Amino acid sequence: MELDLEEKKKMLANLEQVPEPEFEGVSYPSFIPFRKKGAKNVIEDIMNVKSRDSDIILCTYAKSGTHWTYEIVYMLLRNTTELDKKSKIQVMLEAVDDLSVLNSVPSPRIMDTHCLFKYIPKQHRENKGKIVHMIRNPKDVCVSYYYHCLKDIFVNFDGTWDEFLELFMSGKLPYGTWYNYELEIERAARDFPGMIFTCCYEDMKQEPVREIKKLADFLGIACSDDTLEKIAKKTSFENMQKNKFDFTQIVDGKGFIFRKGEIGDWKNHFTVAQNEKFDAQFKEEMKDSKYKITFE
Ligand code: A3P
Repeated sequence: MELDLEEKKKMLANLEQVPEPEFEGVSYPSFIPFRKKGAKNVIEDIMNVKSRDSDIILCTYAKSGTHWTYEIVYMLLRNTTELDKKSKIQVMLEAVDDLSVLNSVPSPRIMDTHCLFKYIPKQHRENKGKIVHMIRNPKDVCVSYYYHCLKDIFVNFDGTWDEFLELFMSGKLPYGTWYNYELEIERAARDFPGMIFTCCYEDMKQEPVREIKKLADFLGIACSDDTLEKIAKKTSFENMQKNKFDFTQIVDGKGFIFRKGEIGDWKNHFTVAQNEKFDAQFKEEMKDSKYKITFE
């Protein structure tokens, strides 16, 4: 499972840009499995992954704090306060080249995906396996996604902020619209009670110990106050930015996952007019939702 950076770098340098793969009206980043098998087969293979009762799947819309949540769940499950030396990309269902490598991951396994809830492994759903979902306010998601896409070689984007915001609002980005993703998982939480734990990025940032405790309770893990404090500290943005292995180093040498880690960076990007337009769409799309999203 170790990632050979030099080998990956050479392989990526040889890949020509291809149109983003698409399935059922949603596009995906052109990760290697999508290039090799096409989006339909990638999704089918994910849905057929053999589940173990103890599996945990992290379900997040892109840029919502997946790496952060992964690390917290990893520490809780492995009973450690050290960062995982591996990257979560190695257990990301749509990015893993050969899904059989998941067989060698010790239980309880953590896997992650940005694909819609309806595409998670069928057995996991049938077993009512646990899902950890992190949601982040979509204005900060959009800003974070913008910077990510400017650098990500698996996404074809080199436009302006204004252009990106339009793409985000019309769902013409890999993984489709934020609204569709989040409303689908909200419905799933109603349909499968007790299966999905949702934490908010903003709450986790402001009250990490309290939120990590809730997550530990959901996972059925007893944790002392001291351990909760340590996990909060080790998974803080500052510590992760400094000490966590970032797989995107293979793209620019430095890595771009741990960018700012703040609430409200959107205020540095949205114009007043853009903000009004976004708010109107948010109000309409989320009119039946019970999510309490905070933007600052
Ligand atoms: P920014 O681009 O706003 O800085 P994902 O892991 O889903 O790709 O999300 C990445 C976003 O989560 C980035 O947001 C990143 O900085 C932020 N992030 C990563 N680790 C974090 C942490 N420990 N605390 C807070 N934010 C974190």
